[in-house]
Parts: sequence; structure tokens; C-alpha cells
Amino acid sequence: MMADVSAGRRILIKFGGNALSGEGDLGRFAEDIASLISSGIRPVLVHGGGPEISQEMERRGLRVKKVSGLRVTDDAALQVAAEVLERINGQIVEALARAGVTAQGMSGCEGGTVIADRMAPVRTVDDHGNEVLVDLDRVGEVSGVNGGHLESLISSGTVPVIYPICADRQGREYNVNADTVAAHVGRAVGAKEMALVTDVPGILKSGSVIRSASLADIDRLIADGTITGGMVPKVEACRTALLNGAEIVYMLNGKEQHSLVRKLLKGENIGTRITAV
Ligand SMILES: Nc1ncnc2c1ncn2[C@@H]1O[C@H](COP(=O)(O)OP(=O)(O)OP(=O)(O)O)[C@@H](O)[C@H]1O
Ligand SMILES: [Mg+2]
Repeated sequence: MMADVSAGRRILIKFGGNALSGEGDLGRFAEDIASLISSGIRPVLVHGGGPEISQEMERRGLRVKKVSGLRVTDDAALQVAAEVLERINGQIVEALARAGVTAQGMSGCEGGTVIADRMAPVRTVDDHGNEVLVDLDRVGEVSGVNGGHLESLISSGTVPVIYPICADRQGREYNVNADTVAAHVGRAVGAKEMALVTDVPGILKSGSVIRSASLADIDRLIADGTITGGMVPKVEACRTALLNGAEIVYMLNGKEQHSLVRKLLKGENIGTRITAV
């Protein structure tokens, strides 16, 4: 038999809450993961849940506030985020099982896998145009990843599916941006590629998709206000990945059917490809 060109190819795949809204989306996504595995790829999954968390917070009368694309997270918001993300995680693992994929759902806390520390206050501009520092409260940044648990899952043919609630060394929990977790987990498992599946067809500028971007391009796009909101932590995660062993990041639209297979297996010209230079 011919050697499979993708054998052992590790890819960190992160998908956002908006990317997969309905059962149909989730089913197709799971089929794509099954196809990747059949081609010899070893995927590791990280997911977010932004829109669902916001919806549930509003349902409970909590105020949703974001600064630089990050959710200001008090204790009540952390509780909601953890509950919602755990529920979504279960749905993903079930959808994967239906597609014949053995997966293990987990938070970043499990087995001390993703270590987070409280994020320092972030600089932003208030309604009056003044620069201010905002404390995001229970928001963490990643300070380390223990790859042991992930390695044992991967080598037994199980796909880790991680949601981004992480703890510090004292066990205090934090809400971490899922793209950030993806970049650090990708580094820990030695993934040379990362795919960020979101709800837009890539980085957009004046309504059209930028086909490829370097880190210098990203700096310019942030500075000129093209990249805002949730796209800011996303491109910063691309930077983290590319400066730590990843060779390429693909940004894809989860709303485009089978975009993962079309990009990763067929090499179609969709989405934005981000490289260091
Ligand atoms: N230049 C840009 N091009 C494309 N999207 C942009 C740009 N600037 C800001 N955005 C916003 O970034 C959003 C994607 O980030 P967002 O955090 O909302 O989703 P996600 O990361 O896929 O999901 P989650 O946060 O649930 O993991 C887009 O829906 C869009 O509104
Ligand atoms: Mg996001």
C-alpha cells in the first residue's frame, strides 16, 4: 500500500461558537474531522462558545461587556461560561461519536493541562476617547501547557476536544480566549498547522477576503482599524502559533460546507492563510 502523505500530520483545529450554530453544521464538521483522520491526520480540537455564552448571560440578566475582543468576566459570568462551554463540549463529542470518531471532551483545567494566570489590565479607549486600563477580572492568559495527558490521548487514537476554562497552579479558574488556548495547545503537541474555523470567510478588508497575510500585514491591519473585536485575539493567536513552531495558520468559514476538508485535504483556495513572513 502507498504511504499516506498525511500520516501523523498534527493539526490544531479551533472553531468558534458562531461557526457551528445548527445540528447540520455540527454533523458536517464531525464528518470533516472523520475524513481528516482517515487521511492520517491527527487533529486536536479546541472550541469557543462566545455567542451562546452571551445569550445565556442575557437570559440571566447579566450584562455582556467586551474589551479588545475579550469578555469582561466576573464570577457570575465565569459560572455561565463554564456551564455553556461544558454543554457545547458534550454536543461536539456526541456529534464526533456519531461520525465514528473517538473523542475525549475536557476543559483546560483537566489534569492541569492548560495553566492560566490572571491577565493584567488591558489598555483601551473609553467613550470619551481617553486611554484607560480595564481589569477583565476572571480572564486568564496561558502560562503553560502540560502535554502529557494530550499525548496519551493522541497516541491511543483519541481526539482531545478542549474548552477554554483553565486554572492557575492554585486551582483558581479563569475564562481564556479559545484562540489563545488553541495556539498554546498547538505548540505543546507540535502541530505545524493550525486552522481557525470562524463565522467569516477569513480576514476581511473593505468587504473582500485577504487571501494571505504575514505578521507585518496583521500589525498594519490592527493599526488601521481593519481588524477589530474578536478578530484581534484571533490574529494575536496566529502570531503566538507562528512564533512557536507553527508554519501556517488557515482561517476558514465554518458556514461554508466542508471548508476544513476543502482546505486541508484538497488545498482549495479558500479562507486566509497566515504565515510569519
Ligand atoms: N477585519 C475583519 N475580518 C473579519 N472579521 C472581523 C474583522 N474585524 C473584526 N471581525 C469580527 O471578528 C469576528 C470573529 O471573532 P469572534 O471572536 O466573534 O468569533 P470566534 O473566535 O470564531 O468564536 P468564539 O469567540 O466563540 O471562539 C467576526 O465575526 C467579525 O465580526
Ligand atoms: Mg473569538
